[in-house]
Amino acid sequence: MIGSSPNSGESGSAADAAPPLLEALTGARPARTPVWFMRQAGRSLPEYRAARTRAGTSMLDACLDPELAAEFTLQPVRRHGVDAAVFFSDIMVPLRLAGLSVRIEPGVGPVFDEPVRTPDDVARLIAHRYAEDAIGQAGAGAIETGVRLAVGELGTPGAPGGRPGVGERARAGLAESRGPASWTPLIGFGGAPFTLAAYLVEGRPSRDHLAARTLMHADPAAWDALMTWCARVTGAFIATQVRAGASAVQLFDSWAGSLSPADYRARVAPYSSLALNIAGQAVSPTVGGRVPLLHFGTGTARILRDMRSAGDDGGCAVGIDDRTDLAWAIDELRADDGRRRDAQHRRRSPVVVQGNLDPALLAAPWEVLAPAVDACLEAGRAADGHIVNLGHGVPPGTDPDVLTRIVARVHGSEEWERTALAGWDGAAHS
Ligand code: CP3
Repeated sequence: MIGSSPNSGESGSAADAAPPLLEALTGARPARTPVWFMRQAGRSLPEYRAARTRAGTSMLDACLDPELAAEFTLQPVRRHGVDAAVFFSDIMVPLRLAGLSVRIEPGVGPVFDEPVRTPDDVARLIAHRYAEDAIGQAGAGAIETGVRLAVGELGTPGAPGGRPGVGERARAGLAESRGPASWTPLIGFGGAPFTLAAYLVEGRPSRDHLAARTLMHADPAAWDALMTWCARVTGAFIATQVRAGASAVQLFDSWAGSLSPADYRARVAPYSSLALNIAGQAVSPTVGGRVPLLHFGTGTARILRDMRSAGDDGGCAVGIDDRTDLAWAIDELRADDGRRRDAQHRRRSPVVVQGNLDPALLAAPWEVLAPAVDACLEAGRAADGHIVNLGHGVPPGTDPDVLTRIVARVHGSEEWERTALAGWDGAAHS
């Protein structure tokens, strides 16, 4: 499958081309299919682990250090040549900026000192506001600065990025990332209200989110207050990233799959729409307008249509998890088009999907993984737009060279594979 698609990262002639990621998000078919990885930053990279150890800060404190956040955002772009950076942060950061006591325990996940269980707890919670006090404002300022620093290296239309001191190999990664365009987009993100509420109510990671679902059924008024608050806080966090220069955003609803479709529709989707509307109204200085929206969750096969139509624009790109067949998901979304066109939606929005390689394949032999990458590309051709990604995040123990090889294969560039894998010196870029 590896062919000779254009790979003219350094050519000035095509400097006005849109980055492949943004083209795909409009439902177009760029010459090269874009690829990035959820959790591409982080523990799979030795340069990340080294810098975290050196800094000696906790995960959430690292997110609020602009230089560190920008550096961690850029590391996978320099190394893999992926088509997008995703801002290094966490879905819990806006809750910290609203004054909650939350930490991320290594190997466990988010833990809250005071879980939100009763109507009184909810009343106390919603008295908090995003970035209201001095600490919250400083945190929001740190997010803005982190995004700006990262965008400074990734570039903007007509103003290619750059940073003195970045080595030759890192520059090659950035050039590969830009492809036919002159810059690389940064994706901003936030957690969806249900996923945030599931952590808030449980107080820590849980398998079934039972306490959250009990509150949802037992006390609709408290649930409404909790979910509205989560939507506003996460929407504001995403808007902060857009106003600082993100070119696209992704809403992560990791736990939406634990709900019945009826409950999702009635008690969760309206709040995800609120969050997306708040984020969707923000204007990005990089693209000079509002930005495209991606909506991702796991176990979501039965609610893909709802996820696509979330928000007032009713046209999200949908992240497909690895438990769902990509071709089936595209058919499912297409089948919805007829219905939507007959109904009040006069404008047909393109079917844009992202996904959905099984993260488990990353540890399989290349002879097994490579055909799976080809099959993913092939299945994605049935969509109007396709962005290659995993069906969930990169597992921490992943060999990063495997991710680079996937990028090279998706880009159809043997040359990038050779350049990328020869002589990466992580320490020089940490
Ligand atoms: O590279 C990227 O994708 C951008 C950064 C990003 C992180 N978290 C950094 C991170 C993104 C997009 C997230 C989203 C996130 N965080 C989600 C939604 C996506 C998903 O995976 O379902 C969730 C549920 C969280 C909450 C969270 N944060 C968990 C469950 C964990 C793992 C805890 C562990 O140690 O296993 C985190 C920590 C976290 N967030 C790390 C990173 C790089 C690991 C931090 C470290 O130890 O270095």
